[in-house]
Amino acid sequence: MPTEARNVTVTGAGGQIGYALLFRIASGQLLGADVPIKLRLLEIPQGLNAAEGAALELHDGAFPLLQSVEVTDDATRAFDGVNVGLLVGSRPRGPGMERADLLEANGRIFGPQGRAINAGAADDVRVLVVGNPANTNALITAAHAPDVPAERFTAMTRLDHNRAVAQLAAHLAVPVTSIAGLTIWGNHSASQYPDVFHATVDGRPVIDLVGESWLAETFIPRVANRGSEIIRVRGASSVGSAASATLDHVFDWVNGTGSGWTSAAVASDGSYGVPAGLVSSFPVRSVGGAWRIVEGLEMGAFSRARVDASVAELVEEREAVRALGLIPD
Ligand code: NAD
Ligand code: LMR
Repeated sequence: MPTEARNVTVTGAGGQIGYALLFRIASGQLLGADVPIKLRLLEIPQGLNAAEGAALELHDGAFPLLQSVEVTDDATRAFDGVNVGLLVGSRPRGPGMERADLLEANGRIFGPQGRAINAGAADDVRVLVVGNPANTNALITAAHAPDVPAERFTAMTRLDHNRAVAQLAAHLAVPVTSIAGLTIWGNHSASQYPDVFHATVDGRPVIDLVGESWLAETFIPRVANRGSEIIRVRGASSVGSAASATLDHVFDWVNGTGSGWTSAAVASDGSYGVPAGLVSSFPVRSVGGAWRIVEGLEMGAFSRARVDASVAELVEEREAVRALGLIPD
């Protein structure tokens, strides 16, 4: 029997990441090579021409899996029946800015989108927030969609995870496929904690191969500040790697992670002392189409202090958006 088409909504589809994503989604890299796609591209009026142009090019790609492309500036229309929502649309930071500087400007985008998801999304909807500050924007979106289980709202730390894997593999001069068991904890910000204490390289504990000073002075700051490094070097925030990580996150969520784990920001259930409800990055496995936090990992003082610092920042962001009226008291 042919697989039913899935409705995929991309917000900010006329922007940089949108352009890098759309063609890969149409070619089957988001959900699988046998899953037909109906695309909805949501933009604000100023972005509609760019999205329309991308839609014309998608048409010209003659993608066998792509059944339709609709461009709209109406969130209700865009999220009606949506199975997968990629919430990319929001302002990127420029040189000298931190992601938290975007809190108010971008936070206002996500309440209305949460309401539109609540009103019309398919029962199995999965939402990935990419737009920064991604964790807190996911929290805002979920807060406006009370009828959708909170576990369906996630934020992207897969880019940080991929960066950490790549940095570690380069340092140890092994292929990226040799690395397993790495975790990004906390916020998608400079406070994030890339944790190698449970990581292995070809089955050997990474911690036997790297020193704590390399972790503290080189690896952790390099990964945590990679977004800024890209902005400094390119003059604009990451695009291709962000689109790639978006596909990785959703593909694994839908199709499973197999024996290993990855990192994603999901609604906390209180695991590892992270206050319930915060959208924080954890080690996660995808089982039966749902993210499950990997439980029972030991955490020493080195890790605990860093996880706590990043979680404290998430608590501050939650208080800030509450004070702005972007989430209910
Ligand atoms: P961009 O400026 O090129 O594109 C953003 C697009 O969003 C624009 O076309 C704009 O018109 C549109 N937009 C703005 N408000 C909208 C709304 N209410 N509804 C629909 N569309 C709207 O930016 P970009 O480079 O594509 O980056 C997008 C976001 O992704 C930024 O916030 C950036 O910081 C973030 N980002 C996150 C990660 C991550 O790992 N989580 C990585 C890279 C970038
Ligand atoms: C990144 O990590 O590259 C993005 O979140 C962009 C940014 O602002 O750092």
